[in-house]
Amino acid sequence: MKRKEIPNRAVVSTQWGDEGKGKIVDVFAEEADIIARGTGGANAGHTIHIGEREFIFHLVPAGIIRPKKVNIIGNGVVLDPRVLCEELDILRHAGIEYKSRLLLALNAKLVLPQHLLLDRVSDSSAKNGRIGTTGRGIGPAYADHYSRIGLTINDLLNPRLLEEKLERNLREKLLLLREYDPEVIKKIMWHAHLGGGQFYSENDFLDVQAITKAYLAYGKRLAPLICDTDNYLRAVVGHHSILLEGAQGTLLSVDYGTYPFVTSSDCGIEGLVKGVGLRTHDIQEVWGIAKAPYMTRVGEGPFPTEMGGERSAHWCGNGATCKMEREQYSHVSFESENELEFGIAVRFAGNEYGATTGRPRRTGWVDTLLLKLATTVNGPDVILTKLDVLSGCKTIKICTAYQYDGPQVRWGMDTLYKGETLRKAIPNSEVLQHCKPIYELFPGWQQDITGMRRWRELPPELKHIIHAIEERAGVNARILSVGPDRSQMIFR
Ligand code: GDP
Ligand code: IMO
Ligand code: MG
Repeated sequence: MKRKEIPNRAVVSTQWGDEGKGKIVDVFAEEADIIARGTGGANAGHTIHIGEREFIFHLVPAGIIRPKKVNIIGNGVVLDPRVLCEELDILRHAGIEYKSRLLLALNAKLVLPQHLLLDRVSDSSAKNGRIGTTGRGIGPAYADHYSRIGLTINDLLNPRLLEEKLERNLREKLLLLREYDPEVIKKIMWHAHLGGGQFYSENDFLDVQAITKAYLAYGKRLAPLICDTDNYLRAVVGHHSILLEGAQGTLLSVDYGTYPFVTSSDCGIEGLVKGVGLRTHDIQEVWGIAKAPYMTRVGEGPFPTEMGGERSAHWCGNGATCKMEREQYSHVSFESENELEFGIAVRFAGNEYGATTGRPRRTGWVDTLLLKLATTVNGPDVILTKLDVLSGCKTIKICTAYQYDGPQVRWGMDTLYKGETLRKAIPNSEVLQHCKPIYELFPGWQQDITGMRRWRELPPELKHIIHAIEERAGVNARILSVGPDRSQMIFR
């Protein structure tokens, strides 16, 4: 029988990702029997620190590190077998046994070389509408699913079907690929993620036989892990304790986020439960993860509270690297008066570089309007992470309203006028890009909080800020994270 006191939980992000979902899943996994992912793919980068050891997973659920737990990659995931096999190798080298406890949904969607190619070629050529994707084939793989020409993990087990479906799929892709510069395509096909040229064909760009051969080999390796995980979870849901690991973020959700600057799955709670074959009422606790009192975004799209505004977006979106920043901006600190430089100081302090692409994450102050928006999707219980990062900062700002600064525009029955104050976030990029933040200012705290484990130990200034975030966003922050290690938690 299920241990009664352990509820089924879900961990989802309330912002644009990278809030520390991996760490929180690792913490909750101690009590869970089964950990399952249900959305996204290798665009995720979930980092877990245990003492000196660091693990970064893109596909395998973070629960794999805890011995004996069953880990599932569910039907809603777009799965790149190459990345998964790489992660299995990492587990093997780390001495983590996975064979009897990692299950792959037979109906998870397959990411193939054509998806990686299309993702890269289309996002890099979209001059004005660039999304800044992770280049992991996510959008094209989900598009195939909804266009009813996608392949699933189960197809890896059936050579004849695999080849037939692949041929049909590639025929359609060829029509799309003809739109692009063949030299650019050729260059992308030589990328290591695309097999370093092994799938390239001079006539058709993509070589069906080479892809079939390579993917059947993946199928052979993964076969012992592939099963009907939807049925498995439905059968055990009342008896075992289940923990769902969200990926990406609610503001990146294709349904609820800052469209079109989003990913291609619903990263809110509904998408997550559906992506593992369950229903929302199967989950008793939904935890929205939020960085505070700053937040981040990787890739393009509006970010009203961004420190340094457009200059920051431009710097981060045009090839800046951690190394470049360390050389060029070694002088920045929390004392920097220039907003761009202050934002870089925050990036240094929080080590805000993408776990998947290494890109600098854009930094900004916490936005309680967007946080409130995320609670309408996931509910009000949140875990605040990275609270230690801004220790030593003189003033903390919290965004509690916007001034709309764009052209007059209709939003359903409302009309937005230039100069108007908005107290609610509108998840529409054309509106959000013209929203200027209105801040409340708070004195910061000076102590190092990474060793604190109780609410009462925290500096009064920080408690005041947490109360303000709770009140303005309508959330309950009952759990706090004060460092990357699994031990650095405060349960109020
Ligand atoms: P995820 O994608 O939501 O799992 O987050 P990432 O792993 O991409 O990024 C979060 C980063 O912050 C990781 O390097 C974590 O180890 C780290 N982290 C998580 N929680 C905390 C915290 O409370 N304080 C600090 N300083 N780092 C944290
Ligand atoms: P985790 O799970 C942060 C962003 C990309 C881009 C947009 C679309 O680690 O929090 P995609 O490759 O999905 O088509 O890119 O979404 N993005 C993420 N940003 N964390 C993530 O995952 C992300 N997954 C996708 O940067 O802006
Ligand atoms: Mg991440």
